[in-house]
Amino acid sequence: MQKEKKKIMLTGDRPTGRLHIGHYVGSLRQRLEIQESGEYDKVFVMLADAQALTDNAENPEKVKESVLQVAIDYLSVGIDPKKTHILIQSEIPQLHELTVYYMNLVTVSRAQRNPTVKAELKMRGFGGDSVPVGFLAYPISQASDITAFKATIVPVGEDQEPMLEQCREIVRKFNSVYGEVLVEPEIYLPPNTACQRLPGTDGQAKMSKSLGNMIYLSDPEEELRKKVMSMFTDPGHLRIEDPGKIEGNTVFTYLDAFVKEDSFEKHLPEYKNLDELKAHYRRGGLGDVKVKKFLFAVLNEFLAPIREKRAYYEKNIEEVIEALEEGTAEARRVAAQTLADVKRAMQINYFEAWNEEYGRSFE
Ligand code: TRP
Repeated sequence: MQKEKKKIMLTGDRPTGRLHIGHYVGSLRQRLEIQESGEYDKVFVMLADAQALTDNAENPEKVKESVLQVAIDYLSVGIDPKKTHILIQSEIPQLHELTVYYMNLVTVSRAQRNPTVKAELKMRGFGGDSVPVGFLAYPISQASDITAFKATIVPVGEDQEPMLEQCREIVRKFNSVYGEVLVEPEIYLPPNTACQRLPGTDGQAKMSKSLGNMIYLSDPEEELRKKVMSMFTDPGHLRIEDPGKIEGNTVFTYLDAFVKEDSFEKHLPEYKNLDELKAHYRRGGLGDVKVKKFLFAVLNEFLAPIREKRAYYEKNIEEVIEALEEGTAEARRVAAQTLADVKRAMQINYFEAWNEEYGRSFE
């Protein structure tokens, strides 16, 4: 008998600071789309605090504060706790139990081969023997995050592709050894390259706290203006008359990610669309300041309602905590069900099995 496959979304973020507009185009926007589509049986978003601790073991304060800040970011962009369960990873013990069993299905060399882990190790300066075991194992723990909810779709940025690949391998291995219990998830990537990796305001490939090159969802208007007006463009575009480059020009990359159908009509009616604006910039005769002012208007229009909601939740923090409480309780219920299935398949459901065998209830 073929069971009807449910549609379940799960994704998450490491709470190590407030979310920025790269998170929005890279993943939040896709989550909102799924949440609003009404096509999913369940939608989960996880504050992956345990994962954040794999390389912040000595920074518990930062993780603790970020959990609430990121939760406020979620609610402010429109994640609706009536439709999406927001959960705290460390509050779901079943996830950690699953991880222990999955660790037996992954070799050390496979763990070391994960390209995202490799890149992160380099970035964080963990070399050779100084790598925390937990850090190397975090993709395995992430496989627990995903499979505990039997997620079918995981909206994340392309840097998470290796995590999904490793998760699918664990699912296949588990199912082939113990029987069909786990579900293979699919990745759901952002629609275009501008959204897949939004560069920093300085033109660096990635937004990062240490470079101070990000625009936060919570940035006030003046902060946003300052950041946009000092953004990296085309260093060869010195005079207005000069022809300018679009490729690698951060202002245009952001426009690619954020311009909406009515943006030109509202903020720059001399142009019909982004193609016209780009063509003029390429020809020469269009100054950076004008394009930056337009980008500021577009981003400010996007951020204004988010700021307003943030101000509301900052005043009504109990509502945020209640959303986390309810989301986490539901997540625990679902994860407990999966863990029970897993233990049954692995034949370590002792008391359940003995109860059946002897017809009485041992606990
Ligand atoms: N690794 C993800 C990140 O760094 C966060 C994360 C943790 C996650 N658990 C997850 C993402 C489960 C998707 C599914 O952003």
